[in-house]
Amino acid sequence: MTPSLNRLDREPKRLIMIGGKGGVGKTTCASAIAVHFALQGKKTLIISSDPTPSLSDIFEMEIGDRETPIRDLANLWGIEISSEVVLKKWKERFGPEIYEVVSSFASLDYDFVDYIGGAPGIEEEYMLNYILELVENGQYELVVWDTAPAGHTLRLLHLPQIFLRHLEAATKFYMNLYSYFEKLKESVKFKKGKKSLLEIISGWEGLAEKVVNFIRDPEKTEFIVVTIPEALGVKQTERILKDFDEYQLKVTHLIVNYVIQEADCEFHKVRREMQQGYIGILKNQYSHHIQLIEVGLSACEIKGVERIKKVANILFATHHP
Ligand SMILES: Nc1ncnc2c1ncn2[C@@H]1O[C@H](COP(=O)(O)OP(=O)(O)O)[C@@H](O)[C@H]1O
Ligand SMILES: [Mg+2]
Repeated sequence: MTPSLNRLDREPKRLIMIGGKGGVGKTTCASAIAVHFALQGKKTLIISSDPTPSLSDIFEMEIGDRETPIRDLANLWGIEISSEVVLKKWKERFGPEIYEVVSSFASLDYDFVDYIGGAPGIEEEYMLNYILELVENGQYELVVWDTAPAGHTLRLLHLPQIFLRHLEAATKFYMNLYSYFEKLKESVKFKKGKKSLLEIISGWEGLAEKVVNFIRDPEKTEFIVVTIPEALGVKQTERILKDFDEYQLKVTHLIVNYVIQEADCEFHKVRREMQQGYIGILKNQYSHHIQLIEVGLSACEIKGVERIKKVANILFATHHP
């Protein structure tokens, strides 16, 4: 049987994350996967969090940081989300709460909220949280997430540690501040009915845990790695899969893009031979537990729904007319 993603037709997921280094065809493959499910009648959202998003280019229409219906596809919406927007949302949601608590016992200006918002891990944490909200609010049956290049995705996996370490430091800082004021003025107390800072922080901790549990649940989340048949691709795939393994995240499909299928000149013959060597290495290393799906190199860029459908046909070994 031709390797394909069609197991995902039989075992539907709520979130499909596409990872890999920049330029290997992540956004193209994520779009093809999203189009495939939308054509099957599933309400699907494709999110790109790549700092150089290209959903707008691929679908040939303006897609911004709001959920936008994709032209000609009844069940597909797209959104390009930048970390600035995510951080802004984070501040809108938590800023007033933090400020209120902190300013009730210390005179601080609002910059303090920026200080906390600028903490390492918070941006990624909130990105994940934001995406999980989109997954869970029931509006979409499936969310396909075109992630930022590999380094970022891996950082997401380290996130709970980074995030919680920061929180610990922040909490200690606040508690010192708080006890200082306590000693100074016995009367300084949080106003009744208001959340304490520790409660807020443990709420965040809860969020982080919830997110990590969701992406670790193989019934809900699928990770797909995209790579290229070159030395660098093989090396990076090795690193990504090793990291995923360490975090108990299972990858069951690897897309190998830009494969030269018919070589009709010396240049392409040599290149094809080189690629086949690396495909052999990838197969040797992974094919016993990962399906390797090859996508051929097209003469043209993959733009517009018709071309994306062709990639979907290859990925799912199916035929969308
Ligand atoms: N199989 C392919 N054949 C030809 N061009 C491709 C193929 N896959 C992707 N491309 C093109 O390569 C470029 C980069 O692809 P993209 O999906 O944006 O990569 P990434 O998201 O990994 O940075 C785009 O112009 C896209 O149209
Ligand atoms: Mg991209």
